[in-house]
Amino acid sequence: MERLNVLVTGASRGIGAAIALRFARAGARVLGSARSAEALERIAGEVRAAGGEFIPCPMEVSDRAAVETEVGKALAASGGKLDVLVNNAGIFDIIPVWELHPEQFTRMIEVNLYGPLYVTLACLGALAHSDRAHVINISSTAGQQGYPGGTAYCTSKYALRGLSDGMRIDLAERGIRISTIYPGATDTEIFDDLPGDWDRASMNRPEDVSDVVWETYSAKEELTDVNVAPPSN
Ligand SMILES: NC(=O)c1ccc[n+]([C@@H]2O[C@H](COP(=O)([O-])OP(=O)(O)OC[C@H]3O[C@@H](n4cnc5c(N)ncnc54)[C@H](OP(=O)(O)O)[C@@H]3O)[C@@H](O)[C@H]2O)c1
Repeated sequence: MERLNVLVTGASRGIGAAIALRFARAGARVLGSARSAEALERIAGEVRAAGGEFIPCPMEVSDRAAVETEVGKALAASGGKLDVLVNNAGIFDIIPVWELHPEQFTRMIEVNLYGPLYVTLACLGALAHSDRAHVINISSTAGQQGYPGGTAYCTSKYALRGLSDGMRIDLAERGIRISTIYPGATDTEIFDDLPGDWDRASMNRPEDVSDVVWETYSAKEELTDVNVAPPSN
């Protein structure tokens, strides 16, 4: 059987790395993206060791020209094939609204919303050739409810749901499925520099999210909105 081709943004660490490895265990060719080419080299080795192939796609997701160029190169290396796109790259910050600078708000929207839009647009042509095409957008519980200091992040993740719901209508006729995943707090480096006292042991593991992404892709029916349940213990 032909290898599954999956582009994962933010694949160099955290949830994206777990998603890349989950697909690699199923023998996929992973087009892995992040800004740091060096960090991508590290995950490339893990993907290959897990049974997958790896094609690096270093880019800044909010730079549309870079996205078009780098996705184009990665797709050329995959023979123009793409079955699954996981828009996972994202940034997080906690800033009370009275301290929020418009530039911080803009940056959050550029990365967490324009990023998925640009990457999806760059992938549409290749996805249209797949008979199992699927775009999976990683939102957050912050895309369903407000949090203290979450004005910018929540706005970006609520809007990502709008992007998914709008695209789903248009892309149904091309046979492209769209799903939005809503993880709760997950223990990754995203919390390393944040203010606050976080009980990281009580959070989801990145693998909890990657399992849900895999199940969403594998499901017979189209699953549109999927929560990642918090750990039970
Ligand atoms: N951790 C949580 O609690 C949690 C909960 C719900 C949802 N999420 C969402 O899950 C996704 C992954 O989060 P994570 O916790 O795994 O974060 P993470 O550990 O900080 O990893 C973020 C990944 O995105 C890449 N990235 C960041 N900014 C980028 C940019 N401007 N352009 C291209 N790539 C960029 C990073 O690589 P480079 O730095 O090399 O670019 C890295 O690979 C995010 O969308 C986040 O909002 C996380």
